[in-house]
Amino acid sequence: MKPQILVTKRVYPEAIEYLKQHAEVDYEGTDDGLAAADLLARARGKQAIVSQLTDKFTPDVLAKLDGSVRVISNVAVGFDNIDVPAATERGILVTNTPDVLTDTTADFAFALLMAAARRIVEAHQFVHSGAWSRWSVDLMVGLDIHHRTLGIFGMGRIGQAMARRGLGFSMRVLYHDAAPVSTDFPAEFVSKEQLLREADFVSLHVPLSAATRHLIGEAELRMMKPTAVLVNTARGPVVDEPALARALREKWIAAAGIDVFEREPQVNAELLKCSNAVLAPHIASASVATRMRMSMLAAENAVAALEGRRPGNLLNPEAWKG
Ligand code: DGY
Repeated sequence: MKPQILVTKRVYPEAIEYLKQHAEVDYEGTDDGLAAADLLARARGKQAIVSQLTDKFTPDVLAKLDGSVRVISNVAVGFDNIDVPAATERGILVTNTPDVLTDTTADFAFALLMAAARRIVEAHQFVHSGAWSRWSVDLMVGLDIHHRTLGIFGMGRIGQAMARRGLGFSMRVLYHDAAPVSTDFPAEFVSKEQLLREADFVSLHVPLSAATRHLIGEAELRMMKPTAVLVNTARGPVVDEPALARALREKWIAAAGIDVFEREPQVNAELLKCSNAVLAPHIASASVATRMRMSMLAAENAVAALEGRRPGNLLNPEAWKG
């Protein structure tokens, strides 16, 4: 008998085709997401779940699964929606989709940095609205990027890809992480405070955890230069959104490029009013090729686990029985 897989939300069709070659697929082919009760009901009797970041696998939800689920395969590199230790306790494997989205995400983080610094969205709206009537010497002047200092929180794969982009713009690269990271390019490991005080651009690339929740709050924003730009493509709760809105309104910092929010898809009303905030709907990894690869990788991870092969992107090797 074929194993049973639940896919909680729409993914690229190629992934569904692949899954169907290996399993019976219960596909929720919408973008709605399943509420906890529906998720539990649909997961009954399934051996695998292909999930997305909007599916919350809290200890409570994991405890209520009926014991059939052997793997949860998340279509994302981030996995803060899944309580991995609680899954491990229940012997459930958890996988994610790293690497395939590294460069795409860094491209977008750098695009946000440039858009915020050079006021690209404001300029676009200005021209489209018909407000442009003459050229003037200080029309829409912005901030230089080249030869400035880029400060990176979280020097993992995406942080390093961001650093490489900064070096391409002749930037000095500072970073802060739990410990220094060995890199094949010039980047200085500094304290959180030094990074905030010296960086012209602060870009966040940390996973969301208890330690990184509100990593950037009022105190940190006040430490930044009034000409600095904050970029967040990590997770919304890494930044205290009301504090950011105040910082932008009261010009403690110059601008921000934000792709992720504390309560997606809701966006803080004060932040929406800030013309110096370039805002995007959590799309840093959203190129056609990358979202397709993420869908396929999640499908492959689920099938590998079901066929007794160790999945490539296993987050809890302790749960692997071989
Ligand atoms: C991730 O992969 O964690 C992104 O936030 C969604 O693509």
